[in-house]
Amino acid sequence: MEGEISVVSVEPEASLVRQGKGRVGHVKKVGHVRKIISKKRKPCRGIIKQAVPRVPKALQELFVSCRETFKGPGTVPLPEDVHKLCHILDKMRPDDVGLDLRFFKPENMIFQNARVTSTTIYECKNFSLCIFFLPAKGVIPLHNHPGMTVFSKLLVGKMHIKSYDWADPDASKNSSQPSQLRLAKLQANRVFTAPCDTSVLYPTTGGNIHEFTAITPSVVLDVLGPPYSQEDGRDCSFYKDHSYNAFSNGESEVGDEEKHGYGWLEEIEMPEDSQIEGIEYRGPPIIDTIL
Ligand SMILES: [Fe+2]
Repeated sequence: MEGEISVVSVEPEASLVRQGKGRVGHVKKVGHVRKIISKKRKPCRGIIKQAVPRVPKALQELFVSCRETFKGPGTVPLPEDVHKLCHILDKMRPDDVGLDLRFFKPENMIFQNARVTSTTIYECKNFSLCIFFLPAKGVIPLHNHPGMTVFSKLLVGKMHIKSYDWADPDASKNSSQPSQLRLAKLQANRVFTAPCDTSVLYPTTGGNIHEFTAITPSVVLDVLGPPYSQEDGRDCSFYKDHSYNAFSNGESEVGDEEKHGYGWLEEIEMPEDSQIEGIEYRGPPIIDTIL
């Protein structure tokens, strides 16, 4: 399978030498969005045509669909648009974003002791397309996506995903508990192995607060709509989870049989070892044509 992939490679090892540190939870700004404006020109005899970069159909289809789907801050995609995006992402493979699977052979040493890195394929005010590279045992700790809808497609590897939603999304804090704790309902706690279907989280459902732990070197393609924006009140918060029994004090808010499905989330500062290194996107470009 590896031998079939010959497009431009995204080089995970480049993370060791390029760009400044970003933030976990897709917040980093790498500034490498490529826009190509298509121009129609009459063919002239004797002029050698310039080579046009090959744009994988699936990546371009994803971009066009995102542009139609995401209407901006404060909106959630319509169910039919979510279905369409999932259908596109479900079919996507590593070579659609220029990944060379030779980097992911078990004997390859590149990922050992490497950090989590990320690259941005495209970003505008309504959505962004990002790729996250996790070495084996690499962790993106529990973090939220305020007011955002996020599609995650595991392209490579085997990864454990744990996710929560607030038990009561309308309640800011539970006054009977220590102020930094808030009850959350477990939505996912299992291992995903590529290739697998796309996961979708919404502002208050679908596991808006999640944690990725790579079992093998892994690559995730994320579609975020809208992107994080500190200025617009969509900053990323980090959490540590505690078992339900750790802080229930015998005053059970849920039935005994349901306790295992709940946890207390404590908001924490971003863990120091969780910064994500931003690297340049060197995969196939998107054709950003004007509508
Ligand atoms: Fe995330």
